[in-house]
Amino acid sequence: MMIPQPALNEGATKRELYASLRSQLRSMLADEPDVIANAANMSSLLYHSMSDVNWAGFYFHRNKELVLGPFQGQPACVRIQISKGVCGTAAHQRQTIIVDNVHDFPGHIACDSASNSEIVVPIIKDNDLIGVLDLDSPSVARFDEEDARGLNELVEVFVELTNV
Ligand code: SME
Repeated sequence: MMIPQPALNEGATKRELYASLRSQLRSMLADEPDVIANAANMSSLLYHSMSDVNWAGFYFHRNKELVLGPFQGQPACVRIQISKGVCGTAAHQRQTIIVDNVHDFPGHIACDSASNSEIVVPIIKDNDLIGVLDLDSPSVARFDEEDARGLNELVEVFVELTNV
């Protein structure tokens, strides 16, 4: 299998970046349904392609908790209760959550003290909560609606091509 190289994103708009990431992710996952392999490669693709991101990875829904999955970045807390922290809140509400400043988010779970903003996208298949995709940034307000749209589309590709 060809492993696509992360895009060179200098000067690319977010729309161009996400279009490129979608096609890279599609070809990367096309021949492999394994959830660990695909989550690992997707977290690496995001971490190395997106600017100003210090953590990118997955938590999976296991027995009414979120459990740490493949990621890139500093070691992170392993278990998060549904509805706790940003991840648990996004899982509970089944909605993407953008937090401009994590220090203002009640119950935020600090894993890397460098993180200042965060986006969490729930992963849903056939109405079942599979887990969440989480990205952190050292910059305040790093993520916006365009990131939410782009990351949701990437999660759709992941769910379509992976045995979750
Ligand atoms: N900050 C998250 C916890 C996960 S780490 O950011 C990797 C939260 O509040 O749910």
